[in-house]
Amino acid sequence: MAEVVIVSDRVAAGELVAAEIARLVRGRADVVLGLATGSTPLPVYAAAKRALAGVDVSHVRGFALDEYVGLDPQHPQSYRSVIAREVVEPLGLDPARVHVPDGASARIETAGEEYDRAIAIAGGVDLQLLGIGTDGHIGFNEPGSSFASRTRVKTLTRQTREDNARFFASIDEVPRHCITQGLGTILEARHLVLLAFGEAKADAIAGAVEGPVTASLPGSAIQLHPHVTVVVDEAAASRLRWAEYYRETYAHKPSWQGL
Ligand code: GLP
Repeated sequence: MAEVVIVSDRVAAGELVAAEIARLVRGRADVVLGLATGSTPLPVYAAAKRALAGVDVSHVRGFALDEYVGLDPQHPQSYRSVIAREVVEPLGLDPARVHVPDGASARIETAGEEYDRAIAIAGGVDLQLLGIGTDGHIGFNEPGSSFASRTRVKTLTRQTREDNARFFASIDEVPRHCITQGLGTILEARHLVLLAFGEAKADAIAGAVEGPVTASLPGSAIQLHPHVTVVVDEAAASRLRWAEYYRETYAHKPSWQGL
């Protein structure tokens, strides 16, 4: 099962996950990070900037989960721009080693296949950061996504477009399509780290961690993976039936076990 870590706030979550990223990078220079966008992973990136200070990150590689289709890559809300601004620049990564699916590709039908190939050539993702949508999506795998899905074009739900409208002038500007790593692609990463903060994510987290494994709640795919860490604040943990057990387990975690 997933290890569930309930932390006091998002700063503590960021520090916990950033420490693991720094440990990986110190151990192997060419570590492959799976990067997520949205507001959730921002505390991880902020803490990683501190945790990686003085560490050689010139060989670190990164693959983002997803991108809008039909949005100018230079648009400040394209995930290419977000990853450059929030991750590559502050952490001092080599931009040539950090990849985002190409939502502007003239060959969008095959862009997903090429992206999966690039991940495979890099040796696969070592640590995949994940947020979760209020409808339970991970990456942009909306409800109904196959657990075997690969990187491909998807249509966003109205709910996701409404949630993401805050980054645009209006909902009409939020693209309808995206290109996202599939659930099958995500499940190949060696370690999944799912983060969620706030009451609005409580149902999605309860469904992902404790609900039935169902394509109707794509985040529940994490239950199929042997190494998952779910890092949540009290509000996002508030509907977890086994919260006390998770707290007790983490409090008595053997010191030889890493994150
Ligand atoms: C976005 C992203 C997801 C992200 C989710 C939650 O649509 N495609 O990768 O996890 O929605 O966003 P936030 O972290 O801002 O709540």
